[in-house]
Amino acid sequence: MAFNFDELIDRRNTRSYKWDQGQQLFGAPDVLPMWVADMDFPSPPAVREILKRRADLGVYGYAIHTDSYFDAIVDWFRQRHNWEIQPSWITDSPSIVTSLSLAVELFSEPGAPVVIQSPVYYPFYDVIESNGRVVAKNPLLLRNGRFEMDYEHLESLFKSGARLLLLCSPHNPGGRVWDRDELIRLGELCLRYEVTVISDEIHCDLTFPGHRHVPFASLSPEIANVTVTCLAATKTFNLPGLHTSFIVASNASLKRKIERRLKTLSLHMAQHFAQDAVEAAYREGADWLDEMLEYVKGNLDYGIDYLQAHLPQVKPLRPEGTYLLWVDCRGLGLDIQGLKELMFHDAKVAFSEGSVFGTEGEGWLRINLACPRSIVEQGLRQFCDAAKRKLARA
Ligand SMILES: Cc1ncc(COP(=O)(O)O)c(C=O)c1O
Repeated sequence: MAFNFDELIDRRNTRSYKWDQGQQLFGAPDVLPMWVADMDFPSPPAVREILKRRADLGVYGYAIHTDSYFDAIVDWFRQRHNWEIQPSWITDSPSIVTSLSLAVELFSEPGAPVVIQSPVYYPFYDVIESNGRVVAKNPLLLRNGRFEMDYEHLESLFKSGARLLLLCSPHNPGGRVWDRDELIRLGELCLRYEVTVISDEIHCDLTFPGHRHVPFASLSPEIANVTVTCLAATKTFNLPGLHTSFIVASNASLKRKIERRLKTLSLHMAQHFAQDAVEAAYREGADWLDEMLEYVKGNLDYGIDYLQAHLPQVKPLRPEGTYLLWVDCRGLGLDIQGLKELMFHDAKVAFSEGSVFGTEGEGWLRINLACPRSIVEQGLRQFCDAAKRKLARA
């Protein structure tokens, strides 16, 4: 491997959301954090180089968006996802969650239902509720250790008036990379009921062999016409602290509405550091990404084998994409508080507690495996040992 993903980088006391909140969030400053979805790997060398050069300039005045930035995005999606997009379809947004929130505000009425497929990334709930809309859950079905969409139930929500869907593709925390047929079936339903789809595809580049991300808007011009795709290089290349993302919408009216709202809020200005990093990542980060995915696949294989061997009461789902392992811990017989105590107090690890993704996540944990193998080993060892002690006492 050209890159050393085994390297341990001390992120404590670096203003890290993941590493510097042990005491506040979990009551334990020394907890091993494997929760929020950022990686403990340094970004690709080209990103670090350009940021150093930008920092060395010393002048950090206002920035403009350049054609080469948009071209880098277009080239990436053509090469990596076989998706032909136009620079004019792209608008920068400070973050995906910003785009989701604006889309809810713009494309639904106060009090209207907005559909999500639970369990799902928790800000999906926040952006709906904080905008005064109502969460309409279309819970995923767990079949043979794999989530599937419940189309009949979804259609019943559309029949009763829901006209906006927040799609999570690939799915966090379930790790599904929705396949073409599943997405086509979804798209046909959305077209039939004139549903607008906000497709959060932030995990699009994080897929494992045998699974290919299909951009929802690439399915047909008709589906593209009802879709706003929310994208970012931040998950792929570990840049989330730069706080940058973009939307892609071929429907000029949908795009204009979001653009206007971003401008009203003065969230439309370019940022030097973010733009430099994203362009460098898309132009020069592919080899790093391929190796990172191979390394994380090794972590996932190790993690699944370790849990099966040491704590057969828990059942991990094998993710098809994302670096997140969604683990069914209901076999431990613990409630939400019991699972928190086991993690934060007994095992001194912080995985994400599943109920934050919806009631369907109660009894589940989400483990972030985008970290050096030694952290995976330590975190799982601490968790399994503590769980075994707890089970022995019960
Ligand atoms: C599905 C999904 N959407 C959005 C985000 C966050 O994106 P941003 O930081 O750009 O708001 C995450 C981060 O984990 C995510 O998993």
